[in-house]
Amino acid sequence: MNLNMPARAAPPRPDPPDGGTTAGAQTRFQRPFLKWAGGKFRLLGHLLATLPPGTRLVEPFVGSGAVFLNAGIAANHAADANAHLIGTFVRVQEDAEGVLAEAQRLFAPANNSADAYYRLRDEFNGDLRPTARRAALFIYLNRHCFNGLCRFNRRGAFNVPFGRYRRPGLPVEEVRAFRHVAQRTTFQTATFTATMAACRAGDVVYCDPPYVPLTATADFTGYTGIDFGEEQQRALAAAARELAGRGVPVVISNHDTRLPGNSTVERAANSFRCRASSVATAATGLPPRK
Ligand SMILES: C[S@@+](CC[C@H](N)C(=O)[O-])C[C@H]1O[C@@H](n2cnc3c(N)ncnc32)[C@H](O)[C@@H]1O
Repeated sequence: MNLNMPARAAPPRPDPPDGGTTAGAQTRFQRPFLKWAGGKFRLLGHLLATLPPGTRLVEPFVGSGAVFLNAGIAANHAADANAHLIGTFVRVQEDAEGVLAEAQRLFAPANNSADAYYRLRDEFNGDLRPTARRAALFIYLNRHCFNGLCRFNRRGAFNVPFGRYRRPGLPVEEVRAFRHVAQRTTFQTATFTATMAACRAGDVVYCDPPYVPLTATADFTGYTGIDFGEEQQRALAAAARELAGRGVPVVISNHDTRLPGNSTVERAANSFRCRASSVATAATGLPPRK
């Protein structure tokens, strides 16, 4: 993915992508308030049909939350290694109106400029306290940065450039809808191994890991500043196998089933292999692995 800074002289662009929408998905499903690379909003119709029943949905790679928001399961556990993301979710859960009040100020037209963007990005990187202001800044950055990306450098600083969008909108209704589902959701900053180890009978687990890069330039695993490579894929396979052995169903979205690590993941999913494969097909257009 090309993350080069867009030319400052270029005209403003329409709103950033949000992982895609379809007319059906727009009317049937709740849209998350964050744009998220690899977000599953447009695949929900297919994906939710593959989820086995359970009393609690566990998402070790929750991202924007598109899946738990729409799964309609009695309880959710939403985890991600991205502490800024989970911190934002917790603030919305506890004080959605406070976050929205801060965000209204940030979404003023005067803040839709490169100068304002880089000033507010510095503020976000410089003050890590879990305030409503910081959650609002995260939403502001998500809507004003290049392609709605979430990327951190090795020192943990958000480093996506300004996106130059015409009129980025504050997703007020999406924040309120998220807060509603958040009342029956626990949030945790955790790596997938810790999240999966804590799963119990009655859980259903949906895993949507970062894509394994197909080429050096296709690398997009920068949500957390930690790479997600083949070793991580194998650890995910082992965790899925362990859960399947304990009778906890696991569905995994795969980007490319041709990779050796991913075929291991598919085998680990065991009785859910068909479902995992068809989810992979929906995500990639690749035929299901036979
Ligand atoms: C493809 S996205 C998930 C998208 C999500 N299903 C949605 O609909 O928005 C992958 C997520 O995995 C998270 N992640 C990356 N490495 C992780 C790890 N080791 N443990 C847990 N989460 C991780 C990233 O922060 C990112 O949010």
